[in-house]
Amino acid sequence: MIKIAIIGFGTVGQGVAELLVRKRDEIEKKIGKFKVVAISDLTGSISGEFKLEDAIEIRKKGKLPEERATSEIVEQEDYDVMIEVTTTRLDESGIAYMKTALNRGASVITSNKSIAVALPDLLKLAEKKNARLLYEATVGGAMPVIRLLNSYLALCEIRSLNGILNGTCNYILTRMEEEGLPYSQVLREAQEMGIAESNPTADVEGIDAGIKLVILANTIGIPAKFEEVEREGITKITPHAFKVAMQKGFTIRLIAEANRRKLRVSPRLVKINSPLAIKGTLNALLIHTDTAGEIFVAGRGAGKFETASAILSDLYELFRCSGNR
Ligand code: HSE
Repeated sequence: MIKIAIIGFGTVGQGVAELLVRKRDEIEKKIGKFKVVAISDLTGSISGEFKLEDAIEIRKKGKLPEERATSEIVEQEDYDVMIEVTTTRLDESGIAYMKTALNRGASVITSNKSIAVALPDLLKLAEKKNARLLYEATVGGAMPVIRLLNSYLALCEIRSLNGILNGTCNYILTRMEEEGLPYSQVLREAQEMGIAESNPTADVEGIDAGIKLVILANTIGIPAKFEEVEREGITKITPHAFKVAMQKGFTIRLIAEANRRKLRVSPRLVKINSPLAIKGTLNALLIHTDTAGEIFVAGRGAGKFETASAILSDLYELFRCSGNR
C-alpha cells in the first residue's frame, strides 16, 4: 500500500485529491493500492482514518479539522511520498518540508517552483537517501518537459531550450497581436477574466518564466541561478511594435532561452509561422538536440487539473516499476 501525504490543500492540492478519487481504479491498476494518510495546509490538517472525498468537502466549506502544524505532519506521519503543492514563495518553507521528507527516505512530488533556489541540493539529498524528487508540475503545467529532458532525451546533448513558459504573458501578447490593443487595456481585461493575477508583476516582468527557466536549466545540467537570468518583461511592448513586426512576417513573444552561454527571458521577434508563435495561454518548448534534431512540445501551462495531471504523472513514474501491485 502506497502511503501519500498531501502538503498544501489549495487549488492544486484539491485538484490532485479529486483526481485520486475520480481515477482511483485506473491509478491502482497501474501503480497498486494507495492511501492518503494525511493532508495539511495553513487552515489545519487531517490524518488517521478519513475518506479523501470527505476531506475535500470539509476543506471546500472551510478549515481542515485538526490543529496540527504542517511541520508536525511532515515530521511525524508515516508516508512513502509527499505531494508538496504549497504556494511558490521562493523562500524556505516548502523546501524545508521537502528536505524533511527526503531525509526520512520518503520521495517528494512537487509543483512548488521554490525548488529553483535549491534544486541541485535537493536532488543530491534525494539520491543520498535513496528517494526521488519529481517536479514535472513546476514547469509548463500539463506540458510534459521534465521527464522528456531527463528520460527520453537523456542521451542527447541538449544544445538549447527556447520556450514560452508564462501563459499570462502569452495571452496578453496574443490579444495585442490580434486586436491591436495597448498592453494596459489587455492586462486589465485579463485581470477581470481571472487570467492575470491582481498583482501581475511576477508574470509580466518575466520573473515566473525566469524561475521556470532556472528549473529547466538545472534539469539539463546547467547549474543556473535566478540572479543569472537576463530578464525583461512585456510591459513596454506597444501596438506599434506589433504592427511593424507583423509587416515583416514576425510577431512578438516572451521567450525564455537557455544554452551553455546564457539564460535570458525577454520579448523576441518570432516568425509568424514558427511553432513558438503559439497563441493564448498555452506554453511551449523547443528543444535543440545533437542527435534528435528539434523537439517541440506545447500544452496547458496552468490550471487545477492540468497541474494535478502532471503530479499524477510523477506518481506513476515513481511507482510504475515498484512491484507494489
Ligand atoms: N502564472 C503562471 C502563468 C501559471 O501565467 O503561466 C503558473 O505557473
